Amino acid sequence: MNILWDYRQKLLKGLLSLEDLLFTALKVRYSYNNAYIKDKRIRMLVAPSILSADFGSLAHDVKAICEGECDLVHVDVMDGHFVPNLTIGPVVVEAVAKAATKPLDIHLMVENNSFFVDLFAPLKPEFISFHIEEEKHPHRLVQKIRSLGIRPAITLNPHTPPESIEFLLEDVDMVLLMSVNPGFGGQMFIVNVVERAERLKALIEKRNPKCLIEVDGGVSDKNIKLLKDAGVDIVVAGSFVYKHPEGVATAISALK
Ligand code: DX5
Ligand code: ZN
Repeated sequence: MNILWDYRQKLLKGLLSLEDLLFTALKVRYSYNNAYIKDKRIRMLVAPSILSADFGSLAHDVKAICEGECDLVHVDVMDGHFVPNLTIGPVVVEAVAKAATKPLDIHLMVENNSFFVDLFAPLKPEFISFHIEEEKHPHRLVQKIRSLGIRPAITLNPHTPPESIEFLLEDVDMVLLMSVNPGFGGQMFIVNVVERAERLKALIEKRNPKCLIEVDGGVSDKNIKLLKDAGVDIVVAGSFVYKHPEGVATAISALK
């Protein structure tokens, strides 16, 4: 609203250049996106995982999902300790952030979460999520992420019950439920996530109705209806999006 007010004032004073106009349009679009993600969904939000992109053409593949109307760009950070795989650090994620026109959703799969939060905070992602199984002081870390101007999220492995984070729900903006064991793309969907999402949804209604539910792993057009019906707000999809025979935009729209 402030943006629109400034715009009106400048128009009245005849102070609006073409550059101003373009900048204003970009800002309105970005704040619309953010408001859209903050409020409960009208439709399923889609966060393609760049883990399945072609890293030789990473900027191209990031632009493709943004132009294909994704809602977030999901970035999987693995350290080779918490999970048996190693992915990308801040230098590569900075290149992703430059290519992206949608907000970043950083999923940490690491030991020493606080160290990685410091590494990625300067890139101003929309969300940083960390695994509850790897954090001794989750409440403190949630506060730290928020104090850096980033929306905190907590991730649960397939064996972790949603009830274990009941008393953290009022402090987080999103809970990420893993529907595969973290570490690799292209794994089979673990169907117990549907029951976990339903149980989480009931807790969220009680503790913090604004909190979003995200599901990550093995998501495709085969299980999207189950997830929608369970109250999931955002899905992460790597191989379904990047390996879709009709291209990334068709895959994204099949999940909405
Ligand atoms: C797994 C990652 C996922 C992965 C999803 O540890 O967190 O984000 O890239 O890939 P698919 O959709 O192929 O299971
Ligand atoms: Zn992920």
